[in-house]
Amino acid sequence: MRKWLSKAMFVMSVIALFFVVSACEEAKETLDHNIPSQLMEKEKNKEAASEEKIKIGFSMDTLEEERWLKDRDLFKEAVEALGATVEIMAANGDDAVQILQAETLISQGVDLLVVVPHNAEATAAIVNKAHLMGIKVLSYDRLIKNADIDFYISFDNERVGELQAEAITKLVPKGRYVYIGGAVTDNNAHLFKKGVFNVLQPLIDNGDITIVFDQWTKDWNPANAYTNMEAALKANHNQIDAVIAANDATAGGVIEALAAQGLAGKIPVAGQDAELAAAQRIVEGSQTMTVYKPIRTLAEEAAELAVKLAKGEEVAAERLVNNGKIEVSSILLSPIAVDKFNIDRTIITDGFHSWQEVYRNVGK
Ligand code: BGC
Repeated sequence: MRKWLSKAMFVMSVIALFFVVSACEEAKETLDHNIPSQLMEKEKNKEAASEEKIKIGFSMDTLEEERWLKDRDLFKEAVEALGATVEIMAANGDDAVQILQAETLISQGVDLLVVVPHNAEATAAIVNKAHLMGIKVLSYDRLIKNADIDFYISFDNERVGELQAEAITKLVPKGRYVYIGGAVTDNNAHLFKKGVFNVLQPLIDNGDITIVFDQWTKDWNPANAYTNMEAALKANHNQIDAVIAANDATAGGVIEALAAQGLAGKIPVAGQDAELAAAQRIVEGSQTMTVYKPIRTLAEEAAELAVKLAKGEEVAAERLVNNGKIEVSSILLSPIAVDKFNIDRTIITDGFHSWQEVYRNVGK
């Protein structure tokens, strides 16, 4: 009986041992099964964390004109909406400062640099430094020349100039014209001028239009535009029929110089940027037209490109633009001509400025 009992106990412990071992095996198997998925989960978290951490550096020339404040705020908003972060630095129109700031952004570990160059040529140094660290560069609004930039987004700036000249030649098909250019160091200033002369040249050639003054405006500074316009008036004994200024800030300087001679509102003036002050001058009568470039679209598309490029994703170009060194993959958005007749249904409808702001001084 005892023998039978100990035999039974032995069999039961063998069975128990079998169950313990197979339970352990099962647990181990589940663990083994879970290892790849746990690892995958960990990898996913890591990826999500690094996606969150995408950091864009935004190196700006200046915050002087009203538009650049919009660019700064809308770009930041758009980058953050995509789950990335942005470090912004503005160089106050100083090339050496802009290069130093870009170096700072690179050393802060940004994943990609977005640059609004003060000087189209000098900023090539930034591209070279960024590329040495494996950081891509997106040229924003202004083209960086003679460098291997990775992408360029802007408006069709030659078209901006054409829109200005088309509007003014409709009003003044014949006469004495003044051209107040932008900063010679900014590639856009050359494109704006090219666009203007695409329209004016045939009329110059057939003798309808004479260019009586044509100057660049150092650093786009309205005070320099004022001095240039003053000189133009003096040299021509105030015999001027139309003025095309490369942007609204310089148009502001031009209109002040005209006002000093009692000529504001009597001579058509074109600008561009759709700055609030220019929109007010249009409805008040001292400026004829401006060109509206929807900054929100530029900032949002640039943010999307920047984040994609930073992640190493493919981005589609609409065209190629030669920057003196390479054919740069580019997107050029469309500008819109604005005068007193369509101001409400363009910049006001778009929320670029409110009706109250634009018409603030009218009727007073
Ligand atoms: C921009 C204009 C701006 C000008 C001065 C140009 O490159 O395209 O919108 O008014 O710079 O800042």
